Amino acid sequence: MPAVLETQAKSPAVYDPISRALHWLTVLLVAAEYIIGSVMPSIHRGTPLGTMIKIHLALGSGLLLLIVLRIVWRLTHRAPPAPPLPVRQQRLAGLTHVALYLALILMPLAGWASASARGWPVRGFGVVPLPALVPEGKRIGFLLGDVHAGALYWILIGLIAVHVGAALYHRLVKRDTVLGRMLPGW
Ligand code: HEM
Ligand code: HEM
Repeated sequence: MPAVLETQAKSPAVYDPISRALHWLTVLLVAAEYIIGSVMPSIHRGTPLGTMIKIHLALGSGLLLLIVLRIVWRLTHRAPPAPPLPVRQQRLAGLTHVALYLALILMPLAGWASASARGWPVRGFGVVPLPALVPEGKRIGFLLGDVHAGALYWILIGLIAVHVGAALYHRLVKRDTVLGRMLPGW
């Protein structure tokens, strides 16, 4: 058997365990952040830094650290072979993934800028101290807070809807191995 085919035949068609762990941990944290963001007190000038908001900042900035790690891991590790798909579909999937990574970086950054403008300290997972992104009281920080709770909020939800819709389409309609690559056994 030629060397390339032999390698392909041997490599399991699933993402490696670290990629899978990072993917599902991201899903958990993003869901938690949307829920906490929706139930925490709405934030205006002078809102005190209560427990729910502290948890939102800690998990969200932890998520940012995790996404950076995930992108580094992804750039140094190949995705497993996919089932044969039309080139247009492959490009669309690739584009959605890049947009998801971008939104997962921008969303926490905008929230962090808003927290800094309000003078709130930010610690990744409540432990890793992070510097203020903008000086306290800076207008751009408040504007980015509006983008965080507005445009980016909806863009990320839209991308997730397309992504999850595609995963379910592959599993339920096409019945191919796309979902099983991220969720072995499915
Ligand atoms: C993907 C990660 C995140 C998600 C999904 C998320 C989601 C949300 C949601 C749903 C809200 C409430 C929006 C509303 O008013 O209806 C919110 C507000 C807020 N979040 Fe996040 N958040 C994330 C990360 C972060 C991070 C990392 C920080 C700061 C370190 C942060 C700081 C804030 C602040 C300060 C607000 C109030 C926004 C304002 O009006 O200025 N968030 N977030
Ligand atoms: C917060 C929600 C989610 C986010 C932010 C997210 C993000 C991502 C990203 C960025 C990738 C690209 C991985 C790479 O670089 O190769 C990916 C892959 C994947 N995700 Fe998600 N995901 C989410 C939820 C889900 C859910 C709920 C499912 C299953 C129903 C799912 C199934 C998959 C599958 C099957 C792949 C591999 C696709 C492929 O390689 O073609 N994801 N996800």
